Amino acid sequence: MNTPRMKVLILGGAGFIGRHAALALQARGHTVILGSRDPDRCGRRLPVELFLAERREAHLDWLTAPSSWNALLRGVDCVVNAAGILRERGFETYERVHYRAPRALAEACARKSIRLIHLSALGLTDLSRSGFLRSKLAGERAIMASRADWSIVRPSLLDGEGGFGARWLRRVARWPLHFVPADAAGRIAALEVRDLGEAIAALCEKSGADGWREVELGGGARRTMAGHLAALRCEQGLRPAPVVPVPGLLVRLASQLCDLAHFSPLSYGLWELMRRDNAPKLNVLPALIRRAPAPVGMEVPAPGPSLVDRIRFAARELLQ
Ligand SMILES: NC(=O)c1ccc[n+]([C@@H]2O[C@H](COP(=O)([O-])OP(=O)(O)OC[C@H]3O[C@@H](n4cnc5c(N)ncnc54)[C@H](OP(=O)(O)O)[C@@H]3O)[C@@H](O)[C@H]2O)c1
Repeated sequence: MNTPRMKVLILGGAGFIGRHAALALQARGHTVILGSRDPDRCGRRLPVELFLAERREAHLDWLTAPSSWNALLRGVDCVVNAAGILRERGFETYERVHYRAPRALAEACARKSIRLIHLSALGLTDLSRSGFLRSKLAGERAIMASRADWSIVRPSLLDGEGGFGARWLRRVARWPLHFVPADAAGRIAALEVRDLGEAIAALCEKSGADGWREVELGGGARRTMAGHLAALRCEQGLRPAPVVPVPGLLVRLASQLCDLAHFSPLSYGLWELMRRDNAPKLNVLPALIRRAPAPVGMEVPAPGPSLVDRIRFAARELLQ
């Protein structure tokens, strides 16, 4: 069946997820419009394939009423909301960017019969203390309460070219010692950002009403944070690094300092997420992309027998 060509507005279209969603949509023959706070300068972050795409200025912190979306949604069939902030800055608060703007967007999409794909995260609960996680949950709930044709996408941790967090983790994986929070017991199902881009493009062509409402996505392996770092290191051809467990309280303090200094992806929200599982209950990624997810990292080979064991084994063989 041929899918009709659509015009898809991607908010955060020059971001890590947005770029890959745009590439995948373009590859399927759709026209993409990239939303950015700075459409002139965001070109520096775009791959050549997206240079000619239309760009529209979008500041989610200003777009908190349904009518404020009218100009941006002109001629659009579908919106992908891949805009988000890790930390607050001035008017760019979690409440405005993650809750009030998506709520208004959902209402505007409902009025105009525009499909809405909203990027959220796994592991959001009422028990979260992080303002980041609470605002993401409030955004999800506002969209669910709307009459729009919505799908909410909750990916696990992402790996791939050009991601802020992904780049940091790959760097940390190369360190000779892996400092890992002692309470980071949760399992993650890291996935390749290109797979996520393809899944988003496929979702744009579906309808929430057909059962594609809350979509949880992950890669093929489930690992702890220590296991994920080891797998990234192994892929780079390095032997496993010794793991140094860091007391949870110390990590929490460090995450709060990082939040104050706007430094690194280590945030209070991430610390909260690492303590529980961050993997999909039902992984629909293979169904959406119609193949197995690309591997992230490489399985660490099981250690062979030690020298002492090998001598013991040889001695036993000789004596038999
Ligand atoms: N990366 C992951 O591992 C991961 C996992 C699960 C969920 N998510 C979620 O997916 C979403 C996108 O993540 P990402 O990794 O692609 O982040 P990213 O690379 O930082 O991209 C986010 C984009 O949001 C846009 N943005 C920020 N503030 C904005 C504002 N006030 N108004 C309009 N646009 C704004 C920025 O675009 P401009 O600078 O061009 O304006 C930026 O490129 C986030 O909601 C994140 O929580 C990410």
